[in-house]
Amino acid sequence: KTVAVLFGGQSSEHEISCLSAANIIHNIDREAYDLVLVGITKEGHWVKVNRVEDIEDGSWRESKVGAVLSPDATEQCLMIHEQAAITRVKIDLVFPVLHGLYGEDGTIQGLCKLARIPFVGCGVTASAVGMDKGVAKLVVHSLGIRQADFLLVTSRELKDMCAVIDRTEDRFSYPVFVKPCNAGSSCGVTKVHKREELAEALREAARFDSRILIEECIVGREIECAVLGGGARPVQASGVGEILAAADFYDYDAKYYNAESKTVVDPELPEGSAEEVRQSAIRIFDALDGYGLSRVDFFVTAAGEVIFNEINTMPGFTAISMYPMLFAARGKDKKTLVKELMELAFE
Ligand code: DAL
Ligand code: MG
Repeated sequence: KTVAVLFGGQSSEHEISCLSAANIIHNIDREAYDLVLVGITKEGHWVKVNRVEDIEDGSWRESKVGAVLSPDATEQCLMIHEQAAITRVKIDLVFPVLHGLYGEDGTIQGLCKLARIPFVGCGVTASAVGMDKGVAKLVVHSLGIRQADFLLVTSRELKDMCAVIDRTEDRFSYPVFVKPCNAGSSCGVTKVHKREELAEALREAARFDSRILIEECIVGREIECAVLGGGARPVQASGVGEILAAADFYDYDAKYYNAESKTVVDPELPEGSAEEVRQSAIRIFDALDGYGLSRVDFFVTAAGEVIFNEINTMPGFTAISMYPMLFAARGKDKKTLVKELMELAFE
């Protein structure tokens, strides 16, 4: 079978996607699958890439061979165009290793559905809802799972900034988090410590999305859980992992560039919290119509309260990422994990 691995993408998590993709490609069974590598540049060009090494050294971006996933359901192919010539490559499976907007948000998933090509991971609904922190909050609220209290505002409302600041202060005391509803890897997110910082934080979030979330600041440990399965197969939750962030919160730099940030698998937690995290992760995954994989992130307070933070439907899969690490700790190595994810896509 031929699998097209899509990576890069137009989101702020482009570089992470390349690292995740290289790691996944190294763990795909090459006896069972032929690979077609398709990189998406930050500008949105799709190019055919020859070797995984080209992903690792970044030279893939110079490829002059275009690739397009045909949405024509009768073709199920990639159209490869080199100079004037177009060739068709039959595709059995798409592995969209894309994080954030235009990749983890249902858009690529929709294209694969139109083309009737099976793809790894969540479908359109779970991807779109999981990406949208505002809508995800409303769904999780309906499950009765605790999460940070929040206000949703539109960038339109920022024209009357004073009113937004007043509403925020009526509801919360500082610090608060300000986040764009749609963005990834903490882009556009600010922890606001005082009134004077709020307007700037709201404007920063508005650069990424027209809907902005203002959130109560939860004091708790950052605990994450990996989920695998769906459809007819039981949904498994891994053990839990903890992020020990070097920065004030786990922002983009702390996540990917700061070697001081550490992850701990199976941390010591208050009695029952780990199990509650695992059960809540599965309930949220199911409520969103999750399929394949997700990593669900929580806070656990000193008193053992479990508070939902966010769901990532295409979690990071780099050499230091939590998702593969959590399953490895339960005896499922990366090769097996990747194989199961690909098999699930065919069911
Ligand atoms: N959004 C990044 C890739 C993650 O959550 O792992
Ligand atoms: Mg997260």
